Amino acid sequence: MTARPPAGLTVTGLHAAYDRLQVLHGIDLAVAPGEVLALVGANGAGKTSVLRSVSGLLKPAKGTVKLGGTDITSYGAEKIASLGLAHVPENRLVFPTLTVEDNLVLGGYVRRKEGGFAERRAEALALFPRLNDRILLAAGALSGGEQQMLAMARALMSDPSVIILDEPSLGLAPKVVGEIMTALGILRDKGLAVLLVEQNVRAAFKVADRVMVMDRGRVVAEGTPADLASDERVRAAYLGGSSTSSSGVAAPVTPKAGTAAGS
Ligand SMILES: Nc1ncnc2c1ncn2[C@@H]1O[C@H](COP(=O)(O)OP(=O)(O)O)[C@@H](O)[C@H]1O
Ligand SMILES: [Mg+2]
Repeated sequence: MTARPPAGLTVTGLHAAYDRLQVLHGIDLAVAPGEVLALVGANGAGKTSVLRSVSGLLKPAKGTVKLGGTDITSYGAEKIASLGLAHVPENRLVFPTLTVEDNLVLGGYVRRKEGGFAERRAEALALFPRLNDRILLAAGALSGGEQQMLAMARALMSDPSVIILDEPSLGLAPKVVGEIMTALGILRDKGLAVLLVEQNVRAAFKVADRVMVMDRGRVVAEGTPADLASDERVRAAYLGGSSTSSSGVAAPVTPKAGTAAGS
């Protein structure tokens, strides 16, 4: 096995296109170990395309993606996953007819080093204890929130140093969203680099250390949740305006607390 590369994700000057439609126009971002970076912005802003470019599902037209010290820009998705980057896509791609247990086992096949299966399984289940009670059920029988937890647990079976997530809160009840954000805070506190794409700004701001706002393929604002929540221009243009809006910006809580359980 090769040596474990240093953790963290760095994206520089990233351009990407679908056929001739250019959708990313030079994205720069970095997520350090022990940090949650939230990427927010309206539908169609390019958030998913950033994640797909990072994980090797969309070939960048220009720019570089580095995982630790390694330039992974030209690598395929499987290779990137094996180097320690886990992508939890938007649609919770669990295997519905397989049990929770077998979904975890499959997640364990992509990994950076041999062995450690039992430890990773125990850690993943400790993060989402309700999966313990469902372990022999078909994944398709789980609630949406439990499927999201399973998708995350499965991603963690690869022992990643970087985890990227596409709208994990989509369609879930506030209580479950809170549990998922709390889990992300715990992973951050364990030293993972977390890149979180969310349209649920309120939830994202509770856990994020830093936030970047995207619009039409560009980063148009960035800062701490507190910075952005107090920036009237950013709020009005990109974050749903008024502070009383349910999708708008909540007063940020201390991001490092790891206790971001929601509302
Ligand atoms: N498979 C695709 N083929 C063509 N255009 C796409 C495809 N996926 C996304 N797009 C376009 O790329 C732009 C960015 O989309 P996306 O990255 O999904 O944004 P977001 O995740 O912020 O909603 C949008 O204009 C969208 O219509
Ligand atoms: Mg998207």
